[in-house]
Amino acid sequence: MGDAGGSPLTQSRPLRKDRAESLFDLPVITDVEVQNRYPTPFLVVSLDDTSSLNDRLREIILGRAAVDPGVSLSNDGGWQSTPDFADWSGAPGAQLLDLAIKVADSATALETEQDLQRGGPAWKINAWANVNGPGHGNHPHHHPAAFWTGVYWVDDGGSGTDEPIGGELEIHDPRGVLPAFYAPRLRYALPGYLSAGGQDFFKPRTGTMVIFPAWLVHAVRAYAGSSLRISVAFNLSI
Ligand SMILES: [Fe+2]
Repeated sequence: MGDAGGSPLTQSRPLRKDRAESLFDLPVITDVEVQNRYPTPFLVVSLDDTSSLNDRLREIILGRAAVDPGVSLSNDGGWQSTPDFADWSGAPGAQLLDLAIKVADSATALETEQDLQRGGPAWKINAWANVNGPGHGNHPHHHPAAFWTGVYWVDDGGSGTDEPIGGELEIHDPRGVLPAFYAPRLRYALPGYLSAGGQDFFKPRTGTMVIFPAWLVHAVRAYAGSSLRISVAFNLSI
């Protein structure tokens, strides 16, 4: 049977749930090398002082939200603009998207017939703004027909603090249901693997951008704060 709930542990010691220490203190064995195959990149980009940029983006985005009904896609409540953010966000929007492209280019390689070149193609970029209030979030989804996707938080609405007010970006394990279906209580006790088969999360912080592969399923947990969360999301495609 797959459920290890009733099985005695042959070797037991407590582990913090958010951290698995690797400990191989075993006779005969001189070394155990843990190789991490197929890791998933999740780039957390911190910017210099963003207060002025964020003030300008806030004004532009809230101005747009006042006149544009927006669209309803993965969002569960809140306002999501059409994906033409670049056309109406002026210089602040261009600055933001230019930064996103620069980071993505640094993390992209293009294979040619001769070799592998670091750098991205001439990306097509589509971007949209989000304004979420209390109770709003996003259902799990990925972004088909894109290579990178990302989001920048103009205002985290307080989600970046220790207050338990939701709004986290939930990241689903791209390796699917393994190992949750087989043995929900068994975990790989190695750094970075305790959430295997489940979900990790990232707490948004104002002035921070994240960039990750567009195939990575993600969601936004419902926001339980009392102000507004404002973000700009984008897709880079060819
Ligand atoms: Fe998304």
